[in-house]
Amino acid sequence: MLEVLKPYIKEIDTPLDVKLEIPHLAYIEAKKKNPKILMFTNPVDGDKKFDIPVVMNIFANDEVVERIFGKNLDFIAKEIEELIKMKPPKTLSEKLKAFGKLFAIKNTIPKTVKSGECQYHIYQGELAKLSNLPILKTWEKDGGKFITMGQVYTKSLDGSVRNVGMYRLQIYDDKRLGLHWQIHKDSAHLFWEYKKANKKMPVSIAIGGDPLWTWCATAPMPPGIFEVMLYGFIRGKNPKLVKCISNDLEVPADADIVIEGYCDPREMEIEGMFGDHTGYYTLKKPFPVMHVEAITTKKNPVFYATVVGKPPLEDKYMGYATERIFLPLLKTTAPDLIDYAMPENGVFHNLILCKIAPRYPGHSMQIMHSLWGVGQMSFVKHAIFVGEDAPELRDYENLIRYILNNFDSKNILISKGIVDELDHSSVEELVGGKLGIDISEKCKVKNENCIILNDEELLERLQSVEPLIKDVKQYMTDTKNPVCVIKFKKEKSAKEIFEKIKNFKENLRIVIFINTDEINNPYMLVWRVTNNIDALRDVWIDEIIGIDGSNKNALDGFTREWPPDVDTTPQVIEKLKKLGLIKGISEEELRKYQVL
Ligand SMILES: Cc1cc2nc3c(=O)[nH]c(=O)nc-3n(C[C@H](O)[C@H](O)[C@H](O)COP(=O)(O)O)c2cc1C
Repeated sequence: MLEVLKPYIKEIDTPLDVKLEIPHLAYIEAKKKNPKILMFTNPVDGDKKFDIPVVMNIFANDEVVERIFGKNLDFIAKEIEELIKMKPPKTLSEKLKAFGKLFAIKNTIPKTVKSGECQYHIYQGELAKLSNLPILKTWEKDGGKFITMGQVYTKSLDGSVRNVGMYRLQIYDDKRLGLHWQIHKDSAHLFWEYKKANKKMPVSIAIGGDPLWTWCATAPMPPGIFEVMLYGFIRGKNPKLVKCISNDLEVPADADIVIEGYCDPREMEIEGMFGDHTGYYTLKKPFPVMHVEAITTKKNPVFYATVVGKPPLEDKYMGYATERIFLPLLKTTAPDLIDYAMPENGVFHNLILCKIAPRYPGHSMQIMHSLWGVGQMSFVKHAIFVGEDAPELRDYENLIRYILNNFDSKNILISKGIVDELDHSSVEELVGGKLGIDISEKCKVKNENCIILNDEELLERLQSVEPLIKDVKQYMTDTKNPVCVIKFKKEKSAKEIFEKIKNFKENLRIVIFINTDEINNPYMLVWRVTNNIDALRDVWIDEIIGIDGSNKNALDGFTREWPPDVDTTPQVIEKLKKLGLIKGISEEELRKYQVL
């Protein structure tokens, strides 16, 4: 554990169960205004006690993240930008500056050390048991226990490419784990090489050590580039790796725990369900299996874990670091991009806000297409582009007002492309609709102002044509394009209801349909709606615009299984309350984030 993080750690000494209790408390902590890192010193599993503490919310808040990186995030982005834009030096002072930058590149090269703290204890054969680790079951409907902060190290069949990615790992038994590397990810590509050659693939999982390793494992580096190089660049020193005991992979020498083994590409096993970072469960599906051959640890290891589920959670702070640091790299494919933001309640890839300096008509569309074709950016489902004169991207209130005042339905682009493997709403798995809205080209038609009725009157009028409409709430009624959210009883599809109400064009501009409870909760409304849309099926551009953010079923022609929401277990919350462990957050906030 980094010394600089000690002031941010709250120790919980009360014995708490690795099944639901520890993760539920960390979940609630992450929803506070200033969350802390939690260290659970007495984890138990029923009667079984563990002597390894569980550390959660290690990326607790923005200040902690800056401590972990050791530098301001924008400063790191600037260093990367300077490196990318480096030109041949002419004067002596330029040469000295260039030398400094090249020296920073030298730091990226990993150094193999002879021994590492992570191999103080070595367990092999019968002694290497996953049940000796305090691995968590986060959610009630999870298919079992999962390692949630594992850095998964692999390499290509010919050894020329090394990779680390953070993928969750399901525990099947003492010796076997499910490897949830999704189909688009680098390790999945490497896995196919072994599968084709019918050879066993070495895999090692490092947990803990310097938390920067963990973030690097999540970083969307281009395929073929070993993420630990980014670690070296940020830390300003060569990453120290040590060779594993039972395979020839290398892992961080300071890791707390290392699980070594291999994966036989012929073997697949059902993985899931798992309460995921979309706030929905990911459904059961076969994934490759890892066999454990050795477990090594530090003298006194800790076990890092994270909770994913409905936002905001720890991944908000990890994702923000990624967003800042990757801006200069994104600019290499979209040079006129000024800035971007991926709000956590848009589950990152469900909503991106971009500010650009457009130079010609269709410039935003050009960038949209390029984003939808680049690495993990291609998972983005909804992109909104604004011009230079727009408010700050994170000033959401004013930004939305600007968008609604300048929006023209002519500047909507609906396309088709790949979607994240976790996406549950696309018509077919892995491929779905993409929505791009270009506000950088302002609305040319003068929108007649809408005649705004109050919510009660509007509800009454809408119910007179469609009794399945149960509630109405209007937002941003002072803009040219107010948004009306309609809650309906799903005995018909939203499309059928839209057809009935689209004549209300004096009173309505943009209508969003939901069949869940977020009508008065804009933060969770964004979460729900951006999750649930496949733009090809759910966005209707007529005299008014209709957006179907409801949970889909056969009424919508949806033939896949719709997953359940990720929710807490009430008995566990009650127990944590009784133990006096839920403090520093109001009931109102807990309800807002759907904890209660
Ligand atoms: C908390 C958290 C959990 C994640 N879990 C998974 C996962 O189970 N499977 C997966 O493919 N990606 C997961 N990711 C995303 C990957 O870590 C990320 O896409 C990374 O860039 C993958 O590395 P790769 O490009 O080297 O494959 C997770 C990210 C975070 C922040």
